[in-house]
Amino acid sequence: MILVTGGDGYIGSNCVLKLLESGKEVVVFDNHSTGHAETGAFFAKNYVGRFSVFEGDLLEPGDLRALFSDYDIDAVIHFAAFSQVAESMADPAKYWRNNVVGTMNLLDAMRDAGVGKIVFSSTAATYGEPEYVPIDEKHPQRPINPYGQTKLAIEQMMDSYDRAYGIRSVRLRYFNVVGTDQDARIGEWHDPETHLIPNILKSLFEEGREFTIFGDDYDTRDGTCIRDYVNVLDLVDAHLLALEYLDEGGKTDFFNLGTADGYTVKEVFETCRRVTGKDIPVRIAGRRPGDPAVLVADNLKAKTQLCWVPRRTLENSIRSAYAWEKRMHKC
Ligand code: UFG
Repeated sequence: MILVTGGDGYIGSNCVLKLLESGKEVVVFDNHSTGHAETGAFFAKNYVGRFSVFEGDLLEPGDLRALFSDYDIDAVIHFAAFSQVAESMADPAKYWRNNVVGTMNLLDAMRDAGVGKIVFSSTAATYGEPEYVPIDEKHPQRPINPYGQTKLAIEQMMDSYDRAYGIRSVRLRYFNVVGTDQDARIGEWHDPETHLIPNILKSLFEEGREFTIFGDDYDTRDGTCIRDYVNVLDLVDAHLLALEYLDEGGKTDFFNLGTADGYTVKEVFETCRRVTGKDIPVRIAGRRPGDPAVLVADNLKAKTQLCWVPRRTLENSIRSAYAWEKRMHKC
């Protein structure tokens, strides 16, 4: 059985769906603080006998002890974390406690239960301001916000836990994750929403909502920031490959998950316009603090060592995100 922490969230629940579709048994551990328990109800109905939810908190070691004693867990995929960069600047304590202390409790419980494999959702934010692009895994990790710092601290903690207790980890460093599952059942659903594509699309549905481009004076081809948008289905594929890698005895390692293609904010906006066929209200504002001009992944390591192939295009991702927004707004 695979334990998925944070299995209520956007990426976590897409991963749970993929695991269930591939015939695995899954237990989700979630405190339902930021995710959406509705997806759990959908899995429970459609995958009877192979899916369970354990409501608990990573900050409560007793919850974790009960979880590991109730279920026969073979490996862990760890998504549960707070992930808003701006919030992490305003309230770092919340991030250090939940992300770092929470993960330490999880690793302690794994050690005590003899569970030795974990796939962890890390982030490109651990690299900080890029010194070169595309960013490969050898790029220095100098995060510039507490969110990225907590994820880096966890990566380092995982190295110590491997050396001392033999818990092997794969750390997947995500770039910008977008899109939904095939049937647009599990999309981005954050409150407040800060991400680019949902913000563009929401302005089509919400009266008076205008999409804002944060800065058009960057040193890029059209002055707006460049990002690497990886489809959530491609991303979750990498988690299953990482599990296989650990099952086959692979050693602790870390991989970038991005497409290696960069798009500017204006290019994403134009693609949304083309896909929706709608005129989208837009205005230009100043830069958002902490945004690097360009973040693009070198993904060769994941391709060669995990045999990971990101297949979906930005347009595919936007189509599914649009279908999801229509569903959310009951159109
Ligand atoms: N943007 C806008 N308007 C918006 C929202 C975003 O112009 O309404 C711009 C941002 O300024 C940025 C780009 O679109 O240039 C992408 O912004 P997102 O908020 O969608 O994503 P980020 O690149 O800021 O963040 C993502 C993840 C973080 C992770 C980070 C790594 O969501 O969790 O990549 O640097 F930390």
